[in-house]
Amino acid sequence: MSETFQKIEKTLHQLGVGSNDDVSALFAELREQFKEQEALLRKENDPVNLQIFWTSWLGRKSGVLTRITENWLKPSPPELKRIVGQELNSLKAHMETVHSEQLAAIETAAEQTALARGREDLSLPGVVRPLGSRHPLRQTFEEIERIFLSLGYSVVAGPEMETPYYNFEALNIPEHHPARDNMDTFYMAAPFTESIQGKPFAENAQGKSAAAPLLLRTHTSPMQVRTMEKQQPPVRIIVPGKVYRRDNPDATHGFMFHQIEGLAVDTDITFCDFKGTVEYFVSEFLGPKVKTRLRPSYFPFTEPSVEVDATCVFCDGKGCNVCKQSGWIELFGAGMVDPAVYGFVNYDAKKYSGFAFGMGVERLTQLKYNINDLQLYFQNDVRFLRQFA
Ligand code: DAH
Repeated sequence: MSETFQKIEKTLHQLGVGSNDDVSALFAELREQFKEQEALLRKENDPVNLQIFWTSWLGRKSGVLTRITENWLKPSPPELKRIVGQELNSLKAHMETVHSEQLAAIETAAEQTALARGREDLSLPGVVRPLGSRHPLRQTFEEIERIFLSLGYSVVAGPEMETPYYNFEALNIPEHHPARDNMDTFYMAAPFTESIQGKPFAENAQGKSAAAPLLLRTHTSPMQVRTMEKQQPPVRIIVPGKVYRRDNPDATHGFMFHQIEGLAVDTDITFCDFKGTVEYFVSEFLGPKVKTRLRPSYFPFTEPSVEVDATCVFCDGKGCNVCKQSGWIELFGAGMVDPAVYGFVNYDAKKYSGFAFGMGVERLTQLKYNINDLQLYFQNDVRFLRQFA
């Protein structure tokens, strides 16, 4: 303990302090001692140091000020009592001020640290949330819908669970017809119910019960019949949707894929309208450089039937591996609606004519984006999907 601090254990008399000036000098000495400690306190803002300061100076039991009261004030000669009291009070007031100021400073500092901890740092790089993208098949659907909507067609959807009547019979594909062979599909134990609207079988069909098994539609063509059953011409529709076949999955096959069906029926629709529509669609979808050709084909529900080919998009028709050196690529099947189909929907075949087409969406997407494996569409691999964002 410094000399000064030893003095507080003695009385004024023992210290030889006899005048007001002596008393003031003694307190000045104490304040000098305190100055250093005060500077340190203000610098460190440490709550523990502040507590130690309080106990050693202002502590009730043995703090410096208590010792002064006991040893200097109480036993002081009457003529010095007043000055000792004054000096003591002013020293005490000073220390209490320092203490409360420091307490406030420490609290503010603590608050600021807590604030800083909770504050967002706007300079940090943000969290990048990956944006999804439209599936390439969805993009093709939308593109084809856009083209046909601009030609005055409307978009309709139909059931994926179909009756054999709509999937086959009413499309002029009777039982045991060879056209059913490549359209083998999944039959369901669930029988026809009222919730599947429409007819299970042709009204005049014989030996068939209404409890026929439902099947997953093999094409979107049934919607031709369902639409014509409900409305008289003019009809201009496209039907996007899922279709099913009993195929083993590989690069060009799947048990489920997508089609867009088209149907236009009206008075005076000719093969020219058909050809013009097809050419317009192909040049909109694949670009104006691409040429089309119609190749004779067969479908039970169209007569004549065609395959629509386009000049190969990969070699511009020069011949490459994709088009097997022919320069042409098969796009989709189409034709003029077979009058037999009108018979199933009570359209007057002498009055009305029309055309129909059925496109494979996977195939058209494949040609547009040069995709070589059909399975890629369904594997949900983001490295594949991201390329179409
Ligand atoms: N439904 C046929 C299929 O899936 C495609 C088709 C061909 C549809 C010619 C048509 C059409 O409307 O006229 O193989």
